[in-house]
This record gives sequence, C-alpha cells and structure tokens, in this order.
Amino acid sequence: MKTFYIETFGCQMNVHDSEKVIGTLLAQGYSQVETPEDAELVLYNTCSIRDKAEQKVFHRLDQFKRHHEGKVIGVLGCVAQQEGEHIFERAPHVSLVAGSASYTKLPEMLVQLEAGNRRVTGLSLDTDATFDTPYTRRDNPHRAYITIIEGCDKSCAYCVVPFTRGPERSRTSESVLDEARGLAAQGYTEIQLLGQNVNSYRDPSERGWDFARLLRAVGEIDGIRRVRFTTSHPRDFVKDIIDAIDENPALCNHVHLPVQSGSSAVLERMQRLYTRGEYMRRIEWIKNAKRNIALTTDIIVGFPGETEAEFQETLDLLDEVGYDSLFSFKYSRRPNTAALALADQVSEEEKGRRLTVLQERQRAIQIRRNAELVGAIEDTMVEGYNHATGQWIGRTSQNRTLNFTHAVVPTPNGQTLVGGYLPVRVTRAGPNSLAGEVVL
Ligand code: 5AD
Ligand code: SF4
Repeated sequence: MKTFYIETFGCQMNVHDSEKVIGTLLAQGYSQVETPEDAELVLYNTCSIRDKAEQKVFHRLDQFKRHHEGKVIGVLGCVAQQEGEHIFERAPHVSLVAGSASYTKLPEMLVQLEAGNRRVTGLSLDTDATFDTPYTRRDNPHRAYITIIEGCDKSCAYCVVPFTRGPERSRTSESVLDEARGLAAQGYTEIQLLGQNVNSYRDPSERGWDFARLLRAVGEIDGIRRVRFTTSHPRDFVKDIIDAIDENPALCNHVHLPVQSGSSAVLERMQRLYTRGEYMRRIEWIKNAKRNIALTTDIIVGFPGETEAEFQETLDLLDEVGYDSLFSFKYSRRPNTAALALADQVSEEEKGRRLTVLQERQRAIQIRRNAELVGAIEDTMVEGYNHATGQWIGRTSQNRTLNFTHAVVPTPNGQTLVGGYLPVRVTRAGPNSLAGEVVL
C-alpha cells in the first residue's frame, strides 16, 4: 500500500483543490495518513498571497532536510507555480513541483514519481482546462465546495494570483449543476461556489449564462438549503446578483466584497478598476435589498505611497459601510507584481500601526452590528458542539457564528444535532459571535 500525507495552506480554493488531489490519489491506490513521518509521499499545497504564507512552506521543507530518506516530497499550489524549478535548488530533497493549472496531469506525474523520477514538474499555465474530477474526497458531509471558475484575468498591482493560477477558465453550467445535484442527492445541504473572481463567471457552453443566472439555478436545486459564493470583484458585481438573493432564501444573505482601500487614489494605484464612489453604489444596492444582507470585506493597509490622509479615508469607509466583519492585511511585496516598481514603501512599523488602528475601529463597529441582532430568531446550521461551554456551535445565513444552548446534548452513541437547521433566538452579542437559545 502506498501512503501519502498532505498539508494545505491558503484559501478555500486551495482547500478544495486538496480535496480533489486527495480523491485522485485514493483512486490511484494511495491511502492517506495523519503524519508526514508515516507517509511515503509528502505533499504541501501552498499559498503565496503574502510573504509570510510563502515562508511557511520553506520552513516545512527545511524541517525535512535530514529525515527525508525513502520519502518523496512534493510542493503543489501557488508557491510551486511561482517559484517553479527554483524549488529544486532551494530544497533538493523535493521531487515534485506542480501548480494548480496542472492538476489534471496528476495521475501521469504520479506514474513518473513511482518510476523513480526525482524531478517531476507541472508548471504550464497555458491551459483552458479546469480540474474536474469524479474522485473529490470532501471533508465536510454537509457543506460542499464547487469550483465554478479558475484563474484570474484582473491585474491588481499587489496580487500574485494571476501568476500562480493563470487566466480565467469557467466550467459549463451543466457540469456545475450536475455536480450540485449529485451533492444534494448525497445529502449535502450547503454549497459554496468558488472562484478567484466568481462573478466574472461566463458559461463557455451555448447557454452563455452569467454568474447571477448560475447562482439562481443552483439555488433552485431540491435539497440545497444554502448557497454561498466567494470571492466577488466589485467591478463585475451586478445588481442582478442582489435581485437573485432577494428572490430566493436559499441564497445566503451575505456578500463578501473586497474593497482593499477607501481612497480612490490608492484604488487607482492598485489598478482595482473602480473608484470609491462606484464601490459605494454597489453597497447601496446591497443595503436597499429586501433582505438584511451581511457585508464583509478585505483591506490592505500600507500599499506603496499610502498617505495618512488616504488611510483615514479607509477608516471613514468602514464607518460609512458598517461591515459585519473584515479581513485586514499589511501590504506585502510579491514577485512579478506591478506594485514592486512603485516607490515610497510604507515602513513595517507604520503598517503595523495602521493595521491595529483599523482593527480597533472595526471591532467597535462589529460590537454595534452584532448587538442589533439581539432578540432576532435566526435559522442556524449546527456545525458542532463545544464541550467546554456546553453550547452547540451554529452558523447563520449571514455567516455569523451563533452558539446556542439546547436540551439535547451529544451522547456516546452518536446523538447529535450536527448538520441540522434550527431556529435560534439571539440573546447576547460579542464582537465576533452571537449566543442564543434554541426556539422549540
Ligand atoms: N499584500 C497584502 N495583502 C494581499 N492580499 C492580496 N495580495 C496581497 C499582498 N500582496 C489580500 C487582499 C485579498 C486577500 C485575499 O488578500 O486583501 O483580497
Ligand atoms: Fe493563496 Fe491566492 Fe493561491 Fe489562494 S489563490 S492559495 S490565497 S496565493
């Protein structure tokens, strides 16, 4: 029996790619083990979005320098694509380097490795294929990821993704719907549609569906109670997406719309293709919807040349929008990107200060936003049980964590509420989660 171990870094696209890689390996007769020590094939599916993420994999590879005898080590994903064959120089004990655009060739690459080849690569970005496999081994029995579009055709000045995941390739709506129907038949109730830029989805078949049309169709599948999607680019975000959410409660009332900065001047230097005003127009659509749609975003602080006044514009945007949650990052210089050429780097210390200020401002907003929900009854998907607090862990359609009490507790014979949906009354609110009690 051939054994493998895989560790995944980075975004949901990477997590889902790993599910497909694992399924492919199992179909090739491999079995998965829990530690790298027990494995003959050790894989790292890597992320290079910021320098820190990239360093993690080199740290892992260094740990292996002395104890790799008899093992085959592979680097997959974004660092593999970005660094290519340099990885063999930096870590000579690595035998496989493959980016996500080459995963359809994984079975062939495995044959080469098994034949003893110690320099196997899959680095071509020149593909119009997406990685569709019947073997996907999903981690969660209730919520499933489906990739609808791979790659990215934008050229944000800070971003490495177009270089690591290649140009945009959309799957046909028929293949997406087939996969979604199959998942519903297996008992999945939540589907998350994935893409670096989901809303630039364009059905390559004769139907020519856009993203909103596909979203509607997935929301109509019997048995699917929740549909989420990530990530949306503001430039391609059309009002029809909001109309679709308003029309069908199965489409979750949550939109993640990364803004990156509240300053039009910074947005222009970032090559984001929208102004603050254009972004705010989309926010108006969302706020004017019939449903109460939660809004979340991504922010980068300290992009080259960001002045104190421009940073203040971002703080002001947080107040104006009132985000329900956000992810914030210090700008990190990435290989190949346009922003490398920009002068006027903001110091690490100043980036750290801005990040702290931003996160404090957002914390106050979240305390207020969450408090508004006290008294509401939320349809809640049960995700787990916390033995320390005696509460069930739930998630609302708005993607908030809602922990709640219930007379039922898990038993050793497997009694559980996990995977079900329950109405829960919100009784308390904190900055990052809600607490409540089931409504019987
Ligand atoms: N530095 C810091 N943050 C970045 N992101 C993307 N590239 C960089 C970079 N070079 C952030 C963006 C994006 C999120 C996934 O990561 O905010 O939306
Ligand atoms: Fe990281 Fe971006 Fe690659 Fe996802 S697509 S793994 S976030 S670099």
